[in-house]
Amino acid sequence: MIQHDSNMTDSDAMLAALQWQIAMGADECLAETGVDRYALVERQAEERRNAAQAAVSAAQGASRPQPAAARPGLSANAPLGAAEAAAESRKLARACNSLAELREAVEKFEGCALKQTASNTVFGDGNENADIMFIGEAPGQDEDRQGKPFVGVSGQLLDRMLSFIGLDRSKFYITNALYWRPPGNRTPTDGEVATCLPFLERHIELVNPKVLIFVGGRSGKTFLDTSEGITRLRGKWKDYKTDHMDQAVPAMAIFHPAYLLRNPEHKRLVWRDLLSLKRKMEELGLE
Ligand code: URA
Repeated sequence: MIQHDSNMTDSDAMLAALQWQIAMGADECLAETGVDRYALVERQAEERRNAAQAAVSAAQGASRPQPAAARPGLSANAPLGAAEAAAESRKLARACNSLAELREAVEKFEGCALKQTASNTVFGDGNENADIMFIGEAPGQDEDRQGKPFVGVSGQLLDRMLSFIGLDRSKFYITNALYWRPPGNRTPTDGEVATCLPFLERHIELVNPKVLIFVGGRSGKTFLDTSEGITRLRGKWKDYKTDHMDQAVPAMAIFHPAYLLRNPEHKRLVWRDLLSLKRKMEELGLE
């Protein structure tokens, strides 16, 4: 029995409870029964403690068991902290020499809390050998469900816009700054972004594009390491380079299609930016 004020019927109260859940981001039914995320987090923390303990024992060649806190940065009860998770993703990413290896490493990675609430890992889509690479912000509901980036309404708008300059997914590669949907599409934390960044940097190195386009302000800011808002950032060519790339790649940020759906008057600016992309491709002799 739901507790409610005396003027409310049970069905009103249930409707209000459902609306509250939707507002909190629980906006679709994924399974017949609920998942106890608290128990899951505790179980994963336990697994990490055991793995850390085994690693310490192996490193010392000793049979003497070590307490979990013997692993630097890992408190006895905590799952990976942001700094430790980023260090782990960096180590894993560096060891990958192909996109297939990177996809497997990302799919197995448990250091980003977003994974616990996501239905799928959204790795990438399109032509892995393409010269043009797009990087969006984070998967939404449709992407989470299908495991592919930019397949929802805003992705469809992006595809339509790119078709005007002759691009389709056989000619470009696309991914996101995050591999998992933030619950309720909330803004990701700095820790979540920092944890995924080493994977994304390796992702860019392995695709090895000749031109990079950041879709949306958050993606642009993350990779171009600037505090400039998208209105100032968009349309300007900058150089992008990771520590392991020999050469910088021309990179530009554009408005996110979800923003354009809300502000259609800015479509003409995106059109300008897409024409600039087309000119850049011609300049570089790309198809
Ligand atoms: N928005 C993004 O930034 N990425 C997606 O994959 C979908 C929507």
